[in-house]
Amino acid sequence: MSRLDSFIRRLEAQRACLDHAADLIRDLPGRILEIGLGNGRTYDHLRKLLPDREIFVFDRQIAAHPDCIPPAGYFLPGDLRETLPIAAQLFGPTAALIHADIGTGDVAANRQLAAALGPTVARLLMPGGVAVSDQPMPCLAALPLPSGVAVGRYHLYRSATA
Ligand SMILES: C[S@@+](CC[C@H](N)C(=O)[O-])C[C@H]1O[C@@H](n2cnc3c(N)ncnc32)[C@H](O)[C@@H]1O
Repeated sequence: MSRLDSFIRRLEAQRACLDHAADLIRDLPGRILEIGLGNGRTYDHLRKLLPDREIFVFDRQIAAHPDCIPPAGYFLPGDLRETLPIAAQLFGPTAALIHADIGTGDVAANRQLAAALGPTVARLLMPGGVAVSDQPMPCLAALPLPSGVAVGRYHLYRSATA
């Protein structure tokens, strides 16, 4: 498979998992967390899927497309290792859907970061909440992937207290 094919499949898997997760939590009131704003593509997708929800967004700084900048008060800048635990203290287990898209080119660093953030993601999920992640988070309980998404290409988890 070429790197282009692999990239396209990753984005297709990402979109399929976000669409599926939005369906799973449609009747579960709760905030949405987007971890990794980047260019803002998945943030934009989430706000179109769930237009009535509050979406809180995390990244080091804003470097998104001008159309995809969160409103004042909904962007929490800084290193995720610091900002997510603060959010967990402030919000408690109130997130219906958490999307973590934190990968860079460094596979080992990605795995390390995801392993470090997983327990905090678990603390933020409300009962019945769903987490979607580009990296494995082994401390969470896996959910079946939507059809067409190969195991390991993207990750879907549920709250331990579902
Ligand atoms: C793959 S990009 C996100 C792409 C985005 N979801 C989109 O669709 O445009 C990963 C993002 O995670 C952020 N990130 C990675 N590690 C981080 C850390 N330790 N603290 C804060 N942000 C981090 C990077 O700054 C980058 O913007």
